[in-house]
Parts: sequence; structure tokens; C-alpha cells
Amino acid sequence: MYEEIALQKFNNLVANHKNQVILILGIESSCDETSIAVVKNGREVLSNVIASQIEIHKRFGGVVPEVASRNHLMAIDNVLTEALEKANVTLNDINAIAVTYGAGLMGALMVGVTYAKSLAYALGLPLIKVNHIKGHISANYIATPQLEPPYIALIVSGGHTAIVKVADYVNNELIGSTVDDAVGEAYDKVAKVLGLGYPGGPVIDKMAKQGEANIKFIKHDALKNSFNFSYSGLKTAVINYLHNLEQHGKTPVVADVCASFQTEAVGFLVEKSIKACKKNKIKTLAVAGGVAANSYLRAELTKAGEQNGIKVLFPPMVLCTDNAAMIAAEGYFSLISGAGLADTSLTATPNLNLKYVVKK
Ligand code: KG4
Ligand code: ZN
Repeated sequence: MYEEIALQKFNNLVANHKNQVILILGIESSCDETSIAVVKNGREVLSNVIASQIEIHKRFGGVVPEVASRNHLMAIDNVLTEALEKANVTLNDINAIAVTYGAGLMGALMVGVTYAKSLAYALGLPLIKVNHIKGHISANYIATPQLEPPYIALIVSGGHTAIVKVADYVNNELIGSTVDDAVGEAYDKVAKVLGLGYPGGPVIDKMAKQGEANIKFIKHDALKNSFNFSYSGLKTAVINYLHNLEQHGKTPVVADVCASFQTEAVGFLVEKSIKACKKNKIKTLAVAGGVAANSYLRAELTKAGEQNGIKVLFPPMVLCTDNAAMIAAEGYFSLISGAGLADTSLTATPNLNLKYVVKK
């Protein structure tokens, strides 16, 4: 019964989306942010409430999955209430529910997926499944209202580093990705060995401004002629450098290590993403994911874009890190393309990756 009602409503929305306002309730709980948002027609954020657990996990030096799940459970009801209040709507005004079902932490994802399924079932609304990485890319539809595919996306987060050609609202083509660690992961690990705490990205970004990039960690990029990245190599080179100093009884200049690491980490991203645009003859590059908040990446990529006639788009900071508005936006574009309808059998899929993004 529910499935039939949801399918009928989904088909109506697909058929009439050009003539009606569609409000999507987005739900995100894949890592350490519990977030619920209301987004109008995929581009206009009516509310985007984010309950961050960063302070809770800081003392452990990283996200503790079980702690994350429990905190999602405790937060989610209040986050929903606030999201509806801020948007000045009730659940009766919502047309569809979009939820992150992967990639992410199993227990954390399960909270959002179960919550979304229950709401969709109780309200008789279509449920749209959203790939977290595609959600990050879709933050750009909110930030840049005129943005439409095709364009190149550079995805830089704690879990992923990839260059993707966004062919249309549903299909993507993977151009290159990390062969080991993600760039955000490297930031977090380097910050940890330097004793700078969690999350590493923002603190390295800040420290780097006070230092000089006077250390060369990667002498030769073995992946130079490809669009792939290796951040494990860079991370290991930093760790080896620090061990070496320690063995000689010397202390590192932390700000210089940060500046040097950041220069190389960002250098690969800038070089390869600009090259991908040129090779595909595409003049728009949209950046997505937590590391898109990095001030040095923003400055370097904007400069390289200007030099190469490529428009580089960055979402505002709040839409770079995990949030539900980007999930609702992705849910909208999936829905109007007739894709992504899920039912109550939807399960959290921790290892969902870009392979699954490639095809519908
Ligand atoms: O996209 P995100 O919020 O979560 C994942 O889906 O992974 O990204 C989190 C990552 C963390 O590794 C964090 O250190 C990094 O984004 N990050 C930054 C900055 N702000 C957050 N990395 C570099 N510079 C920043 N300013
Ligand atoms: Zn993310």
C-alpha cells in the first residue's frame, strides 16, 4: 500500500516538477553531523540545521562510530523540529524525503535511514536515496543557481578524493581518484602526528599561514601522468621527516611542516583538476566536500582557473562540510530525473562509493 502511494506521488512530482514548488526534507547522519534541511526546488535553502558532534569526538582524536550513532539518536528529533520551525513549514508541506544511505559509518547511517523510512512511511511520501558524495557535489546547485551539467567536479573530503565529469543530473563519469588515503584523511593524520588535534584540516589551514613551505616531501609524483592521487605517500613522507628529526634530537617547525604539506597536497588537486577540465574541454569546475573549505585551495584554484579561462565554483563553508541541504538538493535533482526512488527495504550502505555514482 505505502509503496503504491509513494510511487504515484513520485511519478506526479516527476511529471509536474516544472509547474510546482517541491519541498524536500533532507536527512544526513553519515558521520559526525546530524543534519536536517528543507530545500525548495533543489536550490533554495529554507532551513539547514546541523548538530555537530566535533566537540564530543575531539577528546578521542577522531570519530568514535558507536558514540556517533548514539548522539545521532539523541539529536535527531530536535534537529527535525528546528528544521521545520526555521523553514516555517510543517511535515504536511513536504513533498518528498531524501536521505544519505552511504557512504559513511554503518551505525550512524542507520539512524538517518531508519528515521527517513519511518517518516516517509507515516506520511505516505516518496523516499529518495542519496549517495553522500553526490550530495557534496550538489551543494554547488544551491551556491550557484545557474549551474547546470555538464561540468567537472573535484570532490575532496575526509573519505574521498576524486575528479568526476558530471554529465547530467544523474550520470557521472569518474576521471580520477585517490589510490589510497583521501586528502582530508591525510590532513587529519598529519595533524594528529603534529599533536594539533581533530579535525586536522582547519587547524593545518590556519597554522600554514604562519609558516613557510620550505620542505619538499614528495620528490617525484609517480602518478604525474594520470588523474589519480596518492595521499598516503605524502602522509608517510611527513611522518618519516618528523621521525628523522626526532632521532637527531631536533624539533620541527610545525608551521613550516603545515605550510609545506599543504602546498603539496593542494598542488596535486589544482594541477589535476585543471588538466581534467582542459582535456574534456569544460570550462566550469565545481569543488565539493569538507576540504573545499580550505583557504589555500580556494585561493590557488581560483588563480589557476583565471589563468586557464575556467570558472571555479566553491560552495560557502557551511555547505562544504556535511549538511542536509546538499542531500535535499541532490534528492531533488535525482527525483526530477526520475531516479533514486527507494522503499522501506532501503539499507545503510557504508561502502557505497564512486563506482556506484557512475551509473544511474
Ligand atoms: O566532507 P566532510 O565534512 O566529511 C566527509 O564526508 O568526509 O569532510 C571532512 C574533512 C576532514 O578530513 C577535515 O579535516 C576536512 O574535511 N576539512 C578541511 C578543512 N575543513 C575541513 N581540510 C582542509 N582545510 C580545511 N579548512
Ligand atoms: Zn562528507
